[in-house]
Amino acid sequence: MSSPVRQAAQRYRRWKNLYYYSLGKAFLDPAYPAVARLFRNSTLPLLDLGCGMGLLTAYLRASGHGSHVIGIELDAEKVSVAREVLGEAGAEFHPGDAFSFPPHLGDVVMLDVIHYFDDAQQQALLTRIAQSLAPGGVAAIRFTLNERHWRFALTRAEEWFVHRSGWIPTTGHNFPTAEEMTRAFVAAGCEVTMEPMWGCTPFNSYLLVARRRD
Ligand SMILES: C[S@@+](CC[C@H](N)C(=O)[O-])C[C@H]1O[C@@H](n2cnc3c(N)ncnc32)[C@H](O)[C@@H]1O
Repeated sequence: MSSPVRQAAQRYRRWKNLYYYSLGKAFLDPAYPAVARLFRNSTLPLLDLGCGMGLLTAYLRASGHGSHVIGIELDAEKVSVAREVLGEAGAEFHPGDAFSFPPHLGDVVMLDVIHYFDDAQQQALLTRIAQSLAPGGVAAIRFTLNERHWRFALTRAEEWFVHRSGWIPTTGHNFPTAEEMTRAFVAAGCEVTMEPMWGCTPFNSYLLVARRRD
């Protein structure tokens, strides 16, 4: 198991369940190392929308990312965990809705959150994210691609389960198409790429990377 995974999980060691969850999540989720590679050398502030308990920030810190992080998360309990474990790490975490994030200019990351919004909100949010990229800034957004595929059907089933179990308080299953995900960034003149990001999971996850030209 790589050291950023252990270092990130160590921050949660006072809660046994969160510690083991963090170990598993950071080890298995391919988006964490992919995002760490993207942002490692960035000096821009990073906005993390739907940051959960700050695990991605913990992983980024363990991977050499040193820029300021601003995390926005709907669930106040997760925010207090994030503050407790990362308060000294040049990061701030706020309870709030990703949809109305505060003014920002820098990089943006949003993993597995976009499907909580309806069509109009998704476009408004993606447009604001595109407008919040500094010159040379990058947005990394993991999402479930809406397409005819067995992976897509399984992703829907998993979403239902995490909501029923209480881990994710909100519900919503509005998974976007590739055109819906890229529209705002193409309109803003960004370079856009999309690659599979499901790792060893059976889900239909993709990572969109949009880079604003200098
Ligand atoms: C699947 S989790 C992903 C957590 C984190 N991005 C990560 O990858 O480790 C989705 C998170 O988004 C949060 N969330 C859902 N709707 C939100 C909203 N409107 N604004 C902010 N956070 C939201 C949930 O509470 C949950 O913590």
